[in-house]
Amino acid sequence: MSDIVARFAELFGPADVLRTVRAPGRVNLIGEHTDYNEGFVMPMALARSVRIALAPHEEPIVRLWSEQFAERAEFALGEAPSDQTSHWLRYPMAVAAVLAEEGLALSGFRGVVDGDVPVGAGLSSSAACEVAAALALLVAARPEIAPGPAAAVAEAHGLTGERLARLCQTAEHRVGVRCGIMDQFISVHGRAGHAVMLDCRDLSHRPVPLPAREAAVVIIDSGVQRKLTAGAYNERRSQCEDGAARLREIDASIKSLRDVPRDLFETHAEALPPAVRRRCRHVVTENARVLESVEALEAGNVARFGKLVNASHDSLRDDYEVSGPELDVLVEIARGVEGVLGSRLTGAGFGGCTVSLVRPDAVEALRDAVLSRYQAETGLEPRLWTSPAADGAAVEA
Ligand code: GLA
Repeated sequence: MSDIVARFAELFGPADVLRTVRAPGRVNLIGEHTDYNEGFVMPMALARSVRIALAPHEEPIVRLWSEQFAERAEFALGEAPSDQTSHWLRYPMAVAAVLAEEGLALSGFRGVVDGDVPVGAGLSSSAACEVAAALALLVAARPEIAPGPAAAVAEAHGLTGERLARLCQTAEHRVGVRCGIMDQFISVHGRAGHAVMLDCRDLSHRPVPLPAREAAVVIIDSGVQRKLTAGAYNERRSQCEDGAARLREIDASIKSLRDVPRDLFETHAEALPPAVRRRCRHVVTENARVLESVEALEAGNVARFGKLVNASHDSLRDDYEVSGPELDVLVEIARGVEGVLGSRLTGAGFGGCTVSLVRPDAVEALRDAVLSRYQAETGLEPRLWTSPAADGAAVEA
C-alpha cells in the first residue's frame, strides 16, 4: 500500500491535524450463507485493509483522492449517491448518510484512501471501505479522539462496535447487496490470532484461537470476478425465508432457519419444494458445523476442523448451489495435496476465493499444485496468499 500520509501532503498540503484509520477485509472460515438466517459464522479479519489519511475542515464537504482508482471526488454531507457516482465513492457517501440519520453531527474532511484488499474477490473490500469511511467520519467529527479500536471510537460517540457494524451494513444495503452482518462485523471486531464466532441473532461473539503453528490459512483467488448479482444472492435469501415460513406452520416457535434443529428438518424435509429443501438443508447443517468447529478448535483438533471445512464446501456446491467449476477445481486441487486439512469456497460464492487450512510445511506444495494445474484446467490465473488473523478496524496512532 502507498504511503497515504505522504500522498496527503502532496495533494492537499500541510494539515493541522492529520489522522489515519484502517479497516480490514475478511475471510470466512466456516458458516456461509448463515448470517442472514440469524445463524452462526466464523470469519477472521485479514492483514489486508482499507486505510484513510484525513484532516478535518470547516466545510461540510468530504473531498477524497482514491489511490487505488486514481480518482479525485467529493460529496456534500447529506448528499445521496446517484447512478453517476463512482462505484468506490458510493460507500463513503452511503455511510455518511446513515451516520447522519443516526443523529451524529458530522464534519467534512479531506482525505486519501488506499487499500490492498483485492476488489471483487469476495474478501469484503466493500465492508472494509464502509468501516474505514465510518471511522474517518467519526474522527473528523472529534479530531481529539484517542487512537484505538473501532469499538472504543464508536463508544466515544455514544455508539457500540455492534451498532457501528449495523450502520455500515445498512449503508451496504443502500448501494450494494442485501448482505448479512458478517463482513462489517468482523471488520470492526477482528482479533489477531483468532477467528471470531458470531451469533448473528444477538451479535454475541467470542474469539476462537487459531493454531497458526499447526495450520496456515491460505486464500486462493479463482480469478473469476464474483458477480454477486443481487439476483442470485437475494434469491437464496428468499428461498430460506420461504423455507422458514413453511416450517413455522409445523412449529410456531421457528422464527428463522436458525431455529430449525437437524432432526426436525429431516422429519419435515419432504414437505418442502426441492430447491427450498436443499437451501434449508445447507443452512441447518452449516450452523451445526460452525458449532462443531468451535468445539474442535477449542480442543486443538485442527484435523476435525478441516473435515468440517470440506463438508461446508460440499454443501455449498450441492445444496446451496453457489459454487462453480473454477472454485470446484481449486478445492479439488487443494484436497489432493498432502497436508491440506480442508478447503472450501469462501464468501458468497459465484466466483471469488477459496480458503484452505494447510499444515505450514505443505503451503509450498499447495502453491506448486495450484500454479501447475489451475491455469491449465481453466485458462485463468490464480492468485494465492496466506494471511494471519488480524485485529479489527482502528484509529491509528
Ligand atoms: C456475502 C455477504 C455476507 C454473507 C456471505 C455469505 O459476503 O456480504 O453477509 O451473507 O456473503 O456467507
